Amino acid sequence: MQKARPLLIFDSGVGGLSVLRPIRALLPAAPILYVADSAGYPYGTKSEAEIAARVPALLGRLAERFDPEVIVIACNTASTIALDAVRAALDLPIVGTVPAIKPAAERSASRVIGVLGTEATVRQPYVDRLAQLFASDCIVLRHGSAELVELAEQKLRGTPANMAGYRRALDGLLSQPGGNEMDTVVLACTHFPLVEPELQAVAPRLLAFVDGKEGIARRTAWLTREVTWPERAGPGHALFTRWSPALEIYRRGLAAYDLQLLTDKRERS
Ligand code: DGL
Repeated sequence: MQKARPLLIFDSGVGGLSVLRPIRALLPAAPILYVADSAGYPYGTKSEAEIAARVPALLGRLAERFDPEVIVIACNTASTIALDAVRAALDLPIVGTVPAIKPAAERSASRVIGVLGTEATVRQPYVDRLAQLFASDCIVLRHGSAELVELAEQKLRGTPANMAGYRRALDGLLSQPGGNEMDTVVLACTHFPLVEPELQAVAPRLLAFVDGKEGIARRTAWLTREVTWPERAGPGHALFTRWSPALEIYRRGLAAYDLQLLTDKRERS
């Protein structure tokens, strides 16, 4: 029998793990290769040109090396900037991540929603378009937080939570005009659902946090509906594009997602 082709789940760091969970729930036997672009992390503070140059080329090399069934770009920053270029360059199904403005607008009673993402994501014209299309009767506040991305990375490394940092990230939305009316927050960076409990804990009132991970999982399942997966999947594998022994600190956190760390020392990006 032919070796099953993996689902390749890609992010700059560990954020894509928030997407891995619902994918596993729908496709428990699919072999998983999780790739964190440690050589390019963080994406959110980079320019459009840097992301646009990096992501399609890197995914092209990864596709060649691992022959995945599907690539899931589990990263809002990479998707809002480079999804079209990746799709044009690669001849396989690509699932992207889109800020969940539509479901947020559907559920907001106050008609004030917040978009919490990376700095690069919140300034994208793609986000303007989503706001115009799906939330034209809402005030859409935006805040980019590199600190919150790093806090999510720290959580996976087992570092105790810095609640002041979480408060600062949420205050970036709450302190804007209209912020006191905001009832719904789009987690427009895949790192952020990993720290939703911490955000909820520092929220001054009940806020609804919305993201697109369930839709990404459904789309991935649909695209692979004709694939026969192995009887049982073993643990998945996690690969960092630049290996360093310091990354050993992620081993435990990755094991909680049933991922084994690949420590191949070759430069992969
Ligand atoms: N997880 C990523 C996103 O969804 C980006 C985090 C970063 O590298 O800044 O946007």
